[in-house]
Amino acid sequence: MPSHDRVVQRTATVEQRVDAIQAALDARGLNATGAVEDLSHLAQEEWTSKNGARVVARAWVDPAFRERLLANGREAVAEIGLSLPRHHRHLIVLENTATVQNVICCTLCSCTAFTIIGLPPDWYKDLEYRSRVVRESRTVLRELGLDLSPEVEIRVWDTTADTRYMVLPTRPPETVEWPEDRLAEIVTRDSMIGVARL
Ligand SMILES: [Fe+2]
Repeated sequence: MPSHDRVVQRTATVEQRVDAIQAALDARGLNATGAVEDLSHLAQEEWTSKNGARVVARAWVDPAFRERLLANGREAVAEIGLSLPRHHRHLIVLENTATVQNVICCTLCSCTAFTIIGLPPDWYKDLEYRSRVVRESRTVLRELGLDLSPEVEIRVWDTTADTRYMVLPTRPPETVEWPEDRLAEIVTRDSMIGVARL
């Protein structure tokens, strides 16, 4: 057996190492287990695309809110009780139109405005998406089920650590009489990433 195989066999798995660090922190009274549970709750229950859906629905029914949202996303979402981590210094809201489709990505890793649009799906973190959506966005969108006509301009936005984006999708024409809460139900995570239209 080559020597590196023996090294691999002696190395604990990631799960075992995480458990060991957690136990060591707990033993020193730092309550790592509680912190992990809190984070897990936030990720699964609080940081969901339902937040962004509320933002979009409000922007659709309230033109003044829409203006404030486009001018300063971070301040506008705070009006409806939503917040971003401190290091997400800017929330830039990109408005789609009939002829413009905005798409977001993070070419370096997986940054998103996760407290607003939810944690990124696996494909968003995949090197395939991160590299190809920049170079051949129309093809990638088609592969993801969004076949845009040639006259629609595609704008790809690369997230950074302190500047996060969300896409404001166009409102489907058949929803013209709908109340805000019903509108929020049709807004999807993918439409706020920009890989789907509603
Ligand atoms: Fe990133």
